[in-house]
Amino acid sequence: MNNLLVGKRGIISGALDSNSIAWKIAEKAHEQGAIFVLTNAPIAMRMGEINKLAESTKSQIIPADATSVADLENLFSKSQEILGGKIDFVLHSIGMSVNIRKNVPYPESNYDYFMKGIDVSALSLHKILSVAYRTNAISEWGSVVALSYIAAQRAYPFYTDMADIKAMLESICRTFGYHYGKSNKVRINSVSQSPTKTTAGSGIKGFESFYNYADAISPLGNASAEACADYCITLFSDLSRMVTMQNLYHDGGYSTTGISTEIMDKFN
Ligand SMILES: NC(=O)c1ccc[n+]([C@@H]2O[C@H](COP(=O)([O-])OP(=O)(O)OC[C@H]3O[C@@H](n4cnc5c(N)ncnc54)[C@H](O)[C@@H]3O)[C@@H](O)[C@H]2O)c1
Repeated sequence: MNNLLVGKRGIISGALDSNSIAWKIAEKAHEQGAIFVLTNAPIAMRMGEINKLAESTKSQIIPADATSVADLENLFSKSQEILGGKIDFVLHSIGMSVNIRKNVPYPESNYDYFMKGIDVSALSLHKILSVAYRTNAISEWGSVVALSYIAAQRAYPFYTDMADIKAMLESICRTFGYHYGKSNKVRINSVSQSPTKTTAGSGIKGFESFYNYADAISPLGNASAEACADYCITLFSDLSRMVTMQNLYHDGGYSTTGISTEIMDKFN
């Protein structure tokens, strides 16, 4: 399937390096004919990797700390200037927990770290949507996708405060999805992705074991970042116009499998 995003203008956050899920989404969006702006926190720019992606996808980069409303206002106004009109799709691919980074166990969560995690990983979506809503920056039938994880629904001890933060992120998709759907027919969904080997993913304690566990449970195996990118492209396209306010599992069947023969064999 080709040209699914021809004529569409987007904003893609979160491409840090070639392992990032957002990196693959940018490559696929470019392949499908979209034009877009790349954005990331100014600190992430220093690594310089994003320049390669900008070059290969012929896109410009606008630095924005997703916790800063002023940065986000600049992001939306500059993006529309560069791309020549309203935005059709936005990817929120932003996650960071200081408690995870510093190996703080969940019951001992540091609340300053917790608040930072909420601001960066969940409230940032509200801020992005609120700026877009207030400035009428997203076209009718536009599509916003945020990336989530199943720890929002079930207990995953190693995921610590990010579990609660993802639950909030998914709730913002639903609640803002109502308001933005009513006012401008903008749709907002979260995609709950399999464990994926990226900088954010691999930073989680025990990542390798739960990556392998999820792979052994899922009938289709873990969904790769490339497959996630394909799915997000369909959500940005006009083929999914009536899907909104959903948390969509993209996990090879993990979320609805009780046990697999591979796991049973391990206990025999
Ligand atoms: N990797 C996984 O196993 C997995 C599974 C499910 C969901 N996700 C989610 O996918 C999304 C992307 O993560 P990834 O796995 O591609 O890792 P990644 O580390 O490549 O991406 C995380 C991005 O967040 C950006 N970021 C952090 N703070 C920011 C800020 N203040 N402002 C703007 N950007 C900021 C980082 O610079 C980075 O580009 C995250 O929301 C993550 O929780 C990841």
